Amino acid sequence: MQKKVLLTGDRPTGPLHIGHLFGSLVNRVTMQDDFESYIMIADVQALTDNFNNPDKVRESVLEVAMDNIAAGIDPKKTTIFIQSQIPQIAELTVFFSNLITVNTLRRNPTVKAEIAEKRDLFGSDGESVTYGFLGYPVSQAADITIVRADVVPVGEDQLPMLETTREIIERFHRIYDVNIFPRPEAKLSESPRILGLDGAKMSKSLNNAVYLRDNPEVTAEKIKSAKTDSGSHVSFDPAKRPEISNLVMIYSLIHGIKPQEAVSELATLSYANFKEKLAADLNKYLAPLRAKRAELEAKPHYVKEILEMGRKRVLDKAEETMSLVRAAMKINY
Ligand code: TRP
Repeated sequence: MQKKVLLTGDRPTGPLHIGHLFGSLVNRVTMQDDFESYIMIADVQALTDNFNNPDKVRESVLEVAMDNIAAGIDPKKTTIFIQSQIPQIAELTVFFSNLITVNTLRRNPTVKAEIAEKRDLFGSDGESVTYGFLGYPVSQAADITIVRADVVPVGEDQLPMLETTREIIERFHRIYDVNIFPRPEAKLSESPRILGLDGAKMSKSLNNAVYLRDNPEVTAEKIKSAKTDSGSHVSFDPAKRPEISNLVMIYSLIHGIKPQEAVSELATLSYANFKEKLAADLNKYLAPLRAKRAELEAKPHYVKEILEMGRKRVLDKAEETMSLVRAAMKINY
């Protein structure tokens, strides 16, 4: 039987952290056996809000590739590629831009929230938002459809992008009277979202993340100085004690147990002792991944070859998709 097609993407704006690991990488690794899998490094999308910082994007491309492979993505099973290396995605974005209204893009809750966060770039009221940033969901629709993906593993914040993608596909099919693309469905991760070490969203810009590439000493230091409350024993109550509960959540993810089980294992420990144990266990859990990552760092040529292989594979499929699209739109001169 023909395998279904899976595509997901990472914006290369920095190395990946344990939030990415538990939230998405672990799932990708399991799913790569059952799907024709693609992981796209979304450098073009990253540039929509980092156009003034191309070095950051450039440097992060290999980081993100290495993080994925170190976490267990097998280049034989999964095609890893760089978005900008597939010009057909840009071409398809232009055609798709006729099929969605500016008002729909303006209402996209994720885009809206991002515009509000990025005052320095887009103005205090979003009055300076660029055409490129407002339109990145259209480009994301092209990412997904260029390989004719069925399944798109993403976080909840990406659901509006999938809706836009389906709307564009439906219009395309209706207007040009074809049926080229499957209806792509989001696949939400089942593992609970973990927070940063200060209780806010885990994010590079907030400086509250444990990176896959951090060494054990840095990891231990970060866990030691993680925010907690004035309680004296470990408990799990995310509403009342979000920070300590988050640490318990990380512990339970490492050990594959429920937070309540973790609490009974840890009940006798002080916060300080729990943190020491958590740091040791996390370092142990990450050790094989970090060893693999160190190996990859020592041979960047190998990683570049994988990306080159990915480029070639996707290029063939993208050309196939574009012949169908150009024929449907009567621009196959
Ligand atoms: N927007 C996604 C994110 O910020 C990254 C992404 C780009 C993506 N293209 C994609 C995800 C295509 C899924 C499918 O995480």
